[in-house]
Formats: sequence, structure tokens, C-alpha cells
Amino acid sequence: MSDVSGVGPPHSAMQGGDTVIRVAPYSARSRLLHWIVAVLVLATWPLGFFIQFTKNEVMLDFYLIHESLGFLVLWLMLLRVGNRLVSRPPQSDAPAFERMAATTVHGLMYALLIVMPISGFLATNAHGFPLVWFGLLPIWSPLGKAPDIAWTLSAIHTWSAWTLLVLFALHIGAVLLHHVIRRDNTLYRIL
Ligand code: HEM
Ligand code: HEM
Repeated sequence: MSDVSGVGPPHSAMQGGDTVIRVAPYSARSRLLHWIVAVLVLATWPLGFFIQFTKNEVMLDFYLIHESLGFLVLWLMLLRVGNRLVSRPPQSDAPAFERMAATTVHGLMYALLIVMPISGFLATNAHGFPLVWFGLLPIWSPLGKAPDIAWTLSAIHTWSAWTLLVLFALHIGAVLLHHVIRRDNTLYRIL
């Protein structure tokens, strides 16, 4: 588990045949949260995008699963922000510019993963459809039906979705740069 700095103990990773490298990874909690949220977002994003192309019979199911998974992301992200305050990322010896770029992209992804579910949730309510989480649990909302702001909230949701996609592309680009081109141990920090 994590030490006082919140960073996990070094673990070993195989690289290039039998060369063993030592890695100071993110804490176990940070790694777990990263992957749960990543899997959820990689399911929620395409589900949201494909709603508009679905047939009427299944459209409501797509909405329900998309909204319920997305709502789960909100709570996990709030947990993640709390975790980030007590569990700092492991130190990196990358140049200052690269550290700043990574911090900016990570920070923006954190922000959008909170803005997205809130805007989606409020938009849905404003359009007049309260969320019943996975069809089981009615979720209280501070906003009832509010047609005046419904489309603004929808626009925030859509713009955030495409901005998140761009950030994700940069994120994966950086992972590939480190892992395939430079062949350093950045990827093992999160595994
Ligand atoms: C991390 C969480 C979420 C992600 C990544 C996400 C992503 C998306 C994407 C990619 C679209 C399609 C945008 C387009 O076609 O241009 C979409 C649409 C939509 N999402 Fe989400 N979403 C999330 C959470 C939620 C939540 C929690 C709700 C409601 C409770 C919601 C409700 C909707 C609705 C109603 C649409 C249809 C279009 C609209 O009215 O804006 N989403 N979402
Ligand atoms: C699908 C494959 C993915 C891979 C291989 C991957 C890889 C990584 C790696 C290697 C790091 C550590 C970077 C560092 O040490 O500076 C990291 C951190 C991070 N990743 Fe990913 N990632 C993936 C998906 C995602 C997704 C879908 C999201 C969100 C949309 C995401 C958001 C983040 C964030 C916010 C951090 C910063 C960690 C923190 O400070 O809590 N990642 N990822």
C-alpha cells in the first residue's frame, strides 16, 4: 500500500528481455481509481455518442446505461480528488516542460470528468427526465424541468465530451511516446 507521501513502494517491471527496472508507481488507491474510471469512461463516452444513431426501441436503454454509468463516474471522481489531496503523484525526472504539460492535461481531465456528469445530469433533468439510477434508485436533483437552460446544459455536456476526447488523444499520444519511442518506465507508474 502507500507510504506517507501516498506513493506506492517501488515495483519491478521487465523491460527488453531480462532487464529488470525499478519503478516508483502511483499509490495502489490511485492506480485502482485510474483504471476503474478509465474503463467506465471508455464505455460511457461511446454509449453517449451512439444514442443519436439508435433505434427507438433501444434508445431509452442507451440513455439509462449511459446516464447511470456517467453518474457513477461523478462519485468516483469526487473520491479521486480526495485521494489526490492525500496521495501525491510519484516524483518524475522528466524535463520541467513535460511535467507541466502532463500536469495540465491530467488536471483538465479531472475537471472535465466532474463537469461532464454534472452537466449531463442537470441537462437530463432540465429536459424533464429525472434520473432513476440503473432503473432502481431515483436521484434527487436541485433542478426540475427547466426548458430555458436545458439546451445550454446540453451544449456544455457536448463540448466537454469532445474536449475530453482531444485530451484523451494527447494522453494516449504521451503514453505511446514514452512506451514505444523512448521506452522508459512511465507506463509502469500506473500499472
Ligand atoms: C463521464 C461521464 C460522461 C461522459 C464521458 C459522457 C459523454 C457523452 C457523449 C460523448 C455524448 C454524445 C455527445 C455528442 O453526440 O456530441 C453524451 C450525450 C449525452 N449524455 Fe453524457 N456523458 C457522461 C455523463 C452523463 C450523465 C451523468 C448524464 C445524465 C445523467 C448524461 C446524459 C447525456 C445525454 C442526455 C446525452 C444526449 C445529448 C444531450 O442532451 O446532450 N451523460 N454524453
Ligand atoms: C486506455 C488506456 C490508458 C493508459 C495506457 C493510461 C496511462 C496512464 C499513465 C501511464 C499515467 C501516468 C502518467 C504519469 O506518470 O505522469 C496515467 C495517468 C492518468 N490518466 Fe491515464 N491511461 C489510460 C486511460 C485513461 C483515461 C480513459 C483517462 C480519463 C479520461 C485517464 C486519465 C488519467 C489521469 C487524470 C491521470 C493522472 C493520474 C492522477 O494524477 O490521478 N487515463 N494514465
